[in-house]
Amino acid sequence: MRSLIDILDLSTEEISQLVATATDIIKDPAAYAHKCDGKILATLFFEPSTRTRLSFESAMLSLGGQTLGFSEASSSSAAKGESVADTVRTVSCYSDIIAMRHPKEGAPLVAAMHAGVPVINAGDGGHNHPTQTLTDLLTIHHEKGRFDNLTVGFCGDLKFGRTVHSLINALSRYQGIRIVLISPEELKLPSYVKKDVLEKNNIVYAQTTDLEAVMPELDILYMTRVQRERFFNEEDYLRLKDSYILTPEKLSGAKDTLSILHPLPRVNEISVAVDKDPRAAYFRQARYGRFIRMALIMKLLDIQ
Ligand code: NCD
Repeated sequence: MRSLIDILDLSTEEISQLVATATDIIKDPAAYAHKCDGKILATLFFEPSTRTRLSFESAMLSLGGQTLGFSEASSSSAAKGESVADTVRTVSCYSDIIAMRHPKEGAPLVAAMHAGVPVINAGDGGHNHPTQTLTDLLTIHHEKGRFDNLTVGFCGDLKFGRTVHSLINALSRYQGIRIVLISPEELKLPSYVKKDVLEKNNIVYAQTTDLEAVMPELDILYMTRVQRERFFNEEDYLRLKDSYILTPEKLSGAKDTLSILHPLPRVNEISVAVDKDPRAAYFRQARYGRFIRMALIMKLLDIQ
């Protein structure tokens, strides 16, 4: 039985297979409409979510399965003091696969150690978010046709942004990747990601505070929201929240082939005026989330 806790739990071959399956699902959804008949997905969300939870549910329903779960910790027995281990042991009796989001780093790993069914990490604190990364990779594949030889700029909250940490991990296994880290001083990529991922894999990277200066180099610009819920005080959040606001003017030096990604939700780091630019890929990206999760659920349930 396999869980997905970290994106590196999947080999690059397995990622290519998931991307191929998701692409096939997009072409012929009817062929997959009964793959999970009789199966139940439990979504245990101890933290708010729109896209991740609903795309998981939509994925299972599109495969013919059913879903149950909760969308806030206060409506589960966690509010009574139940441990994650006990919650998943119980939910394993009622479901075939679990998707869990939790504010504490490592909670889905603990869940996987105690569950009787596969567990998917749907985001753990400021740590990891592997299914967003699969969504990002499917988007990159459809936008660019490759994972190699790309210059990828990450902009915004690189300290607390779990989607950034997971995607950097995933990209570090491809050839010719250049990473440009664009953030305020206070929200720089944690040094453990720099050392254990970028430096260990000899990835060429640069750090800057100036988005416009590096714009012409980028093949992909991955914008992120400043993660308010992970700040220790509101004052710092208010000071940093508008550090980067992408506008059509700031894109004037960008390549015509740039793809702008954002895991969403957007607060105001991308002006709505950018939405009509064909390079804005973030709503296409949200759509891909459903199909890659369909492919992942099938894989973890061992359904061909
Ligand atoms: C992201 C997350 O939850 O980390 N959202 C998502 O899953 N699409 C990004 C964010 O909340 O900023």
